[in-house]
Amino acid sequence: MELVEVDGQDAEVFERFYNLRDAVRREAEFPSGLGLEEARVLMADQHSDMRADGLALVDGDQWLGIAWLDWWLQENTHLVEVEIAVAAAYRRTGVGSRLLEAVIERATQDGRRLLSGMILGDAETGESAGTAFAAKHGFVRKLVELHQVLELPLSEERLADLDQPVDGYEIVQWREHTPDEWVEQFAEALSAMSVDVPTGELDQEPARWTPERLREAEARRLKQGRFCHTTVAVDKDGQLAAYTQMGGGTGDPGRLYQWDTFVRPEHRGRRLGLAVKVPNFRSLQAGLDRPAVLHTWNAITNAPMIAVNVHLGFRPVAQRTDWELEI
Ligand SMILES: CC(C)(COP(=O)(O)OP(=O)(O)OC[C@H]1O[C@@H](n2cnc3c(N)ncnc32)[C@H](O)[C@@H]1OP(=O)(O)O)[C@@H](O)C(=O)NCCC(=O)NCCS
Repeated sequence: MELVEVDGQDAEVFERFYNLRDAVRREAEFPSGLGLEEARVLMADQHSDMRADGLALVDGDQWLGIAWLDWWLQENTHLVEVEIAVAAAYRRTGVGSRLLEAVIERATQDGRRLLSGMILGDAETGESAGTAFAAKHGFVRKLVELHQVLELPLSEERLADLDQPVDGYEIVQWREHTPDEWVEQFAEALSAMSVDVPTGELDQEPARWTPERLREAEARRLKQGRFCHTTVAVDKDGQLAAYTQMGGGTGDPGRLYQWDTFVRPEHRGRRLGLAVKVPNFRSLQAGLDRPAVLHTWNAITNAPMIAVNVHLGFRPVAQRTDWELEI
């Protein structure tokens, strides 16, 4: 048996690595994740805010399990995010433990003191093989998130019912490239969202967005073949009061994501969350050529966001728990 390092440069090696990870992800009723090329670009390219790489445990021609690692470079330089996936036929034979050992060694060598991992589990209990594995290895559960889905498209009638513009705010929309006039305010809103989003007991720092970092993320998204629809609400003084982002990628055209929704604290309580989401649905749906499932995750303590989603018709399908291990 040997450990193979994966960096995305060798397309054939990356494909085996990706296929194993993707097969494990597809065990979920509502799988999510990047498509092959989206994931390869993320790993193979240089980024100023993160790098990704991987390890595989291989026995001759058999790939037994993999670990995907995200190393943050600007903030959260104390941690490594890890995802371990073991081929179904090789579970409970120590493969996951062997990979975890190798990850700990590499993280320690890099001066990181924390491993962090997201694990999927049952919608009611949150439990799974992954949570049993994490607990066995001393990881501590720090955040519980609800995974909700909504089938699209919503009918025009339903959208009309949900559509409630808020007086005093103008709706502005864009696609892959934030218009220059909004870049400063939008980067600031992304940073504010990162501070405000509930992170439970996680030992994590918020991301600091700048116009340069925003432009880099946009260019990366384009290169990956991903797409994003943004809707913002702007008040009478020209302040960006709320935003929402939805989109998808090349992996599976039937799989879409509701990413951030953020309302600045001084603008909360006016149903601006809904006021930006509904126009964004219209924009997202206009490009749909087939039915799709929209996925979203929120901390279970984030009652206002979950309530908005339930109002829109989202239903819970799984729990995702975030775990940490001090190394
Ligand atoms: C979680 C996962 C990586 C474990 O891999 P594995 O190779 O089977 O793990 P190991 O054989 O090293 O198991 C080590 C210990 O973890 C615990 N464990 C692992 N799977 C378990 C399960 N299904 N039920 C209960 N305990 C489990 C046990 O204590 C086990 O020791 P034991 O077999 O001697 O009882 C694998 O089940 C998997 O790929 N699951 C889907 C993806 C996932 O959830 N990944 C989470 C990590 S980010």
